[in-house]
Amino acid sequence: MRKYFVAGNWKMNLTMGESAKLAADLKAAIGGQSEVDVAVCPPFVYVPGVVEALKGSTIAVGAQNLYPAPGGAFTGEVSPKMIKDVGCRYVIIGHSERRHILGEKDEFINAKVKSALEAQLLPILCVGELLAERQSGRTQSVVSIQVEKGLAGLTEQDAAKITIAYEPVWAIGTGETATPAQAQEVHAYIRGLVKKLFGDSIADAMRIQYGGSVKPDNAAELMAQPDVDGSLVGGAALKAENFVPIVRAAKG
Ligand code: 13P
Repeated sequence: MRKYFVAGNWKMNLTMGESAKLAADLKAAIGGQSEVDVAVCPPFVYVPGVVEALKGSTIAVGAQNLYPAPGGAFTGEVSPKMIKDVGCRYVIIGHSERRHILGEKDEFINAKVKSALEAQLLPILCVGELLAERQSGRTQSVVSIQVEKGLAGLTEQDAAKITIAYEPVWAIGTGETATPAQAQEVHAYIRGLVKKLFGDSIADAMRIQYGGSVKPDNAAELMAQPDVDGSLVGGAALKAENFVPIVRAAKG
């Protein structure tokens, strides 16, 4: 049985005060439960404050990105070691906004996955197709390239630490969610790919989150699908009143 995993991607939102308040509200509401794995991923500058605010709770913290080098002359970048040092457990890698706004390629994303693992961080690897790719029947080929290249060169032991987030780009921030059947179809396809790459037991244990306009009113039916093991939540993660019911929906 896979344990559900719900993560909030705060993206480039909130002030320091708002991020501390949101963390405190989440701690009060769901900070004691352990039936569902929960994480929040604030902007880098707010990570230490959020880690502090969530101390003593079961809610983990993740970063939204990293630079794949141990340190050195990389102005403006943040290393995996620093992210680990400030208390993060997870790191989002290959989010569609980084792929499509910042031009990140699969090879670079693969280097990030490897450097996260070296620093004992747990990667959440994001994959997903554009609307035009879906409409031209290329969803599976796009997603398979992203998964295969993103996880290239990993050992089974490394692969066991990965969460994949399937986030169809056309569903992100648009209010247009994949139907539960559309999500299940791609999630099952991804699990099949992981099976081919790393074998049955890794694939059966790997958590595959759905992301893209997850809200309190659609979370339960999405996560009721057999291969949907949680959510990566954007807009609805910015308010405790929306994020808390999504976590509760994962409990079933
Ligand atoms: P929305 O939930 O705002 O659509 O964002 C999803 C997302 O990109 C999470 O990483």
